[in-house]
Amino acid sequence: MTNQYSIVHVPPSGTTQYVQHAWIASLNQLCVGHIHLQVEPDQRIKFLDAWVHPDYRRQGIFRKLWDMRWEYVKQNYNGWKAYAWAKPMSLPLLIEKGFEEGDTCVYVEKDIEGETPFTFVSC
Ligand SMILES: CC(C)(COP(=O)(O)OP(=O)(O)OC[C@H]1O[C@@H](n2cnc3c(N)ncnc32)[C@H](O)[C@@H]1OP(=O)(O)O)[C@@H](O)C(=O)NCCC(=O)NCCS
Repeated sequence: MTNQYSIVHVPPSGTTQYVQHAWIASLNQLCVGHIHLQVEPDQRIKFLDAWVHPDYRRQGIFRKLWDMRWEYVKQNYNGWKAYAWAKPMSLPLLIEKGFEEGDTCVYVEKDIEGETPFTFVSC
């Protein structure tokens, strides 16, 4: 179990249209995890971009980062709504923390290519 890492809170710079906070876990100058929040209109907070280094997963780093971020939002955004688009690996913790499950979202993609113009040939 890794517990020697330290966590730093990176506040927003105030110089962009995005108001985003990060919490970064590091161990021996290696980033072992990070988690973020974005402040949105209508008193909404988006939780996004949780990541833990593959060599350090399942050791509670995400949980620790999550709890620190939650302490911060409780102290600074009381009465606002927090939400996230969760992937399968992060969903269980959000459910455990009392988040309600919304609709399922499915990723889709398509290569963007110029369409060949239709030419009518009469012979
Ligand atoms: C998701 C991720 C951040 C979890 O980090 P982690 O440090 O390994 O997670 P923790 O050890 O703190 O686990 C906390 C809880 O998350 C859930 N969890 C973590 N990994 C999981 C997995 N592979 N499958 C299912 N649940 C998982 C569990 O509920 C776990 O609680 P438990 O240990 O009591 O069972 C990490 O796997 C990751 O970076 N994945 C790739 C990026 C990603 O999918 N990010 C989510 C973006 S929404």
